[in-house]
Amino acid sequence: MSAATLFVTGGAGFIGSALVRLLIADSDWRIVNIDKLTYAGNLESLKALTGTHRHIFSHTDICDRSALDKLFAEYRPAGVIHLAAESHVDRSIHGPADFIDTNIVGTYTLLEAARAYWSGMTPESRSGFRFHHVSTDEVFGSLDADGLFAETSPYRPNSPYSASKAASDHLVRAWQHTYGLPTLVTNCSNNYGPYHFPEKLIPLVILNALAGKPLPIYGKGDNVRDWLYVDDHARALRLVFERGMPGETYNIGGHNEKTNLEVVEALCALLDELRPRADGRLYREQISFVADRPGHDRRYAIDAAKIQRELGWTPRESFETGLRKTVAWYLANHGWIEHVVSGEYRNWMQQNYTDRNAA
Ligand code: NAD
Ligand code: DAU
Repeated sequence: MSAATLFVTGGAGFIGSALVRLLIADSDWRIVNIDKLTYAGNLESLKALTGTHRHIFSHTDICDRSALDKLFAEYRPAGVIHLAAESHVDRSIHGPADFIDTNIVGTYTLLEAARAYWSGMTPESRSGFRFHHVSTDEVFGSLDADGLFAETSPYRPNSPYSASKAASDHLVRAWQHTYGLPTLVTNCSNNYGPYHFPEKLIPLVILNALAGKPLPIYGKGDNVRDWLYVDDHARALRLVFERGMPGETYNIGGHNEKTNLEVVEALCALLDELRPRADGRLYREQISFVADRPGHDRRYAIDAAKIQRELGWTPRESFETGLRKTVAWYLANHGWIEHVVSGEYRNWMQQNYTDRNAA
């Protein structure tokens, strides 16, 4: 008897690849990884799984309804964990169109394909089916010095990215309320860790520091984010998918509030220890305060009490242990970084995976 099948969208991205690696290593699920391979998709992050029969890659756009229908008919999944998205706030400010297409229209298209498939299942399979939508704490807007985002916080998205994610959360809620599709939504804080695309603060600072380039900090560096190690997020996603209550939403966060300046200074101190500059100077001398992000949210902080209380999840990594692991990973994985910086990672599928849609 073959393993039950789970669809993971965006499984070639930063968090999706961590989830796929976890599920292949630590569960019996057969994973169909549905990913368009935008600039953020990198199959080299799944290199360790090459040849693993429980991981099937499908080069598919979630806006393509007929391709999704074919995948549902062929693989008959027991559920979907939906991570595919445009994820970078700065890109959404410069060009929101892809965010509207993938995050809103793509989520709508995936919901409709899932609903059509789910409607045709046997009553027993229907009740076990789950559509898990992976979202962000940014839908709740910005906090002042006090307070935490709870599952009941009002939606107040401020950037094109967060507005598109908020729209997708609302679509998922409506598909549950109106059609009865068994959905789950998780809203998580800032992730960091291995295989993170170097447009986001932490990997950007590590790579720029090593290259002797300026370390750009927006504004005064006093905006606050709540950081979570990516493998802790992946464990939480698995738990919510397998044990969460349909119709519920769960906040996920690391209880690691830091100003951006604190984050960059911590990275500089780790690099001073692990890979000191050849000229004997300190990495913090490369810090450069630059123009602020338009509409920059002041502070995010998550109340993760519900997922802890109801599902027993807590993060394993503190910010200190997680950041040390992250810096050590970037120092040890020069090949992955080189291929990302040179763009060579985009050829990886042609070289190493059979694209099932290419024939
Ligand atoms: P990422 O940008 O690293 O990866 C996104 C993946 O989605 C890529 O592999 C990309 O190729 C794929 N993709 C994009 N458009 C697609 C489309 N139209 N069809 C199919 N695949 C497509 O993103 P990430 O940081 O791993 O985030 C994953 C999810 O988690 C997103 O939904 C994001 O909103 C959410 N999230 C991220 C964070 C974070 O800190 N990174 C925190 C909370 C929630
Ligand atoms: O909170 C969850 C969100 O976290 C996710 O939904 C997003 O997908 C993810 O990208 C992340 O969004 P942020 O905008 O918080 O992450 P980013 O790494 O882009 O920026 C973190 C903070 O650092 C933010 O306050 C902006 C600041 N920053 C960022 C960059 C890239 C800088 O000061 N300099 C930089 O060069």
